[in-house]
Amino acid sequence: MEVIILPSKEKVVKLAASLIDMELRRNPRLVLGLATGRTMESLYAELVRRHKEEGLDFSLCQTFNLDEYIGLSKNDPHSYHYYMHHHLFNHINIDKRNIHIPNGLAPNLDEECCRYEYEIKKAGGIDFQILGIGEDGHIGFNEPLSALLSRTRVKALSPLTIAQNAPLFGSKEAVPKRVITMGVGTILESKRCVLIATGKHKAKIIAKSVEGPITSMISATALQLHTRCTVIVDDEAAKSLENRDYYQWLFENEPEWEPFKSILNE
Ligand code: F6R
Repeated sequence: MEVIILPSKEKVVKLAASLIDMELRRNPRLVLGLATGRTMESLYAELVRRHKEEGLDFSLCQTFNLDEYIGLSKNDPHSYHYYMHHHLFNHINIDKRNIHIPNGLAPNLDEECCRYEYEIKKAGGIDFQILGIGEDGHIGFNEPLSALLSRTRVKALSPLTIAQNAPLFGSKEAVPKRVITMGVGTILESKRCVLIATGKHKAKIIAKSVEGPITSMISATALQLHTRCTVIVDDEAAKSLENRDYYQWLFENEPEWEPFKSILNE
């Protein structure tokens, strides 16, 4: 795992977008794993800008979203299907046949989860997975106690996640209680993953996820097992990390990051 601490949310988004940009230009058939949530909104706005102003081409790439609420129709403004089209897909040149989001209205949800896993395999696996993190440490919607080898399945949301997402629905009662989510094991199989987090409300969980012991109580700790995982955080989200100087030193001295430093200084 590597940890990159940047001075602002804008720079976190810029670096994450630059990594996706680089991978997509290298491999136009990239299989991209996508997340939703407030943190991702500015990342998608930046990808849309790059598509419109810098010719970033999505025509051959495939996408797999991490999760979807159960019981919401695709047109429901709270569904992740709607979210993704609203923030990203409607504004880029992706082939709609290459978009994959779990169907939260499938008549047989277990079959839907197996189908989703099969589609990921058929695509050759996820090349680049972007992740956010919940305040209870979930990645995707892998809530506390999720098996570290879990696959795509139905999960109940934790009370903390319901409270975290209530403002988006108007009340806690309106938040669906169950979701389909890729498993921790599914996420760990991605070839590269990048987790982004910003704001002081993420500081404690980032410290536990990066520096704490691996535990199913905090799904994000499983990322310590991933062979190519980068955590990019702003100063506020990095506040509780004990080894900030060490992470900074590694970032300064790792040649891989050299080309990105000029972008970050813009
Ligand atoms: C949803 C997902 C979640 C969010 C997390 C953070 O697809 O992947 O893990 O990334 O709940 O959400 P925000 O960014 O709203 O704090």
